[in-house]
Amino acid sequence: MFTRHRRLRRSSALRDLVRETELRTDDLIYPLFIKEGLSQKQEVSSMPGVFQLPLAEAIAEVEEASRLGIKAIMLFGIPEQKDAIGSQASAPDGIVQQALRSLKAACPEVLLIADTCLCEFTNHGHCGVLDGEEVDNDRSLERLVDVAVSQAKAGADIIAPSNAMDGYVAAIRQGLDQAGYTHIPIMSYAVKFASSFYGPFRDAGESAPAFGDRKTYQMDPANRLEALREAASDEREGADFLMVKPALPFLDVIREVRQQTALPLVAYHVSGEYAMIKAAAQAGWLDEAAVVKESLTSIKRAGADLIITYFAKQIAQEWQTKEDR
Ligand code: PBG
Repeated sequence: MFTRHRRLRRSSALRDLVRETELRTDDLIYPLFIKEGLSQKQEVSSMPGVFQLPLAEAIAEVEEASRLGIKAIMLFGIPEQKDAIGSQASAPDGIVQQALRSLKAACPEVLLIADTCLCEFTNHGHCGVLDGEEVDNDRSLERLVDVAVSQAKAGADIIAPSNAMDGYVAAIRQGLDQAGYTHIPIMSYAVKFASSFYGPFRDAGESAPAFGDRKTYQMDPANRLEALREAASDEREGADFLMVKPALPFLDVIREVRQQTALPLVAYHVSGEYAMIKAAAQAGWLDEAAVVKESLTSIKRAGADLIITYFAKQIAQEWQTKEDR
């Protein structure tokens, strides 16, 4: 006597019936890069199909994404002026604040998630304020609170701090509450590894550190227990969503955080993960659509509820074409 597993795989109808994990457009968050002073959209060379956008083009892009059923976008800004403390990140007329106001007016149905960090705005490319060559945790927190409050004021629906300082959730929660934004959720990049998969993002965001690396604030990829401590402290401090980043190299961590928390769990399928698939597909080595679907389904199966991915619009488009047929 042996078990006939193949009985449930005989037809696509049967396979549909017993499928355990389903991807939905509602689960996808689409990241966008908006660059101040740009006249034409500019493709990021290490991320084919991803562009730095002038504000007008960003509005068109979000309108199109919304028509395709995407409910949430993640905003990154690249300012014209950079300085030591990333002043433009919290300026009332900064590029992200301008984008939030324009997008809120043009596409009120789309959730606007603001990435809250300094690295695109500092002239040294680090995510916080420096003391010599060190990133000063507590002075960086003060800046981050200013950035978060200015983003909420400009219309952000969700604040997503990514600068990996200790205590940022508590500080931002308090800052938002005091400014009257008790209703604005915090999506914390709680488990953020110091990953080499962020390389292409730093081209897109013009945010590579001018010296050193981010290993004193982002996590060592070798550590899983530390990931659980990071997730637990952000939850205690009042995070409304927890994130694990990157996604595919850290599926075990996604699963373990899933088991520890009842909060919505987000995974960031990062720039390097995107670039690898695009490069292999361009060489004709992989079936892009199939690999993207398998990757994102695996991220959900591991335990993520939501996925931030540069493929979001492309997938939504594919699904819509299928429905039209
Ligand atoms: C930074 C930030 C980074 C990403 C999102 N927010 C980069 C970094 O830490 O250098 C990376 C996302 C990606 O690689 O797609 N604040």
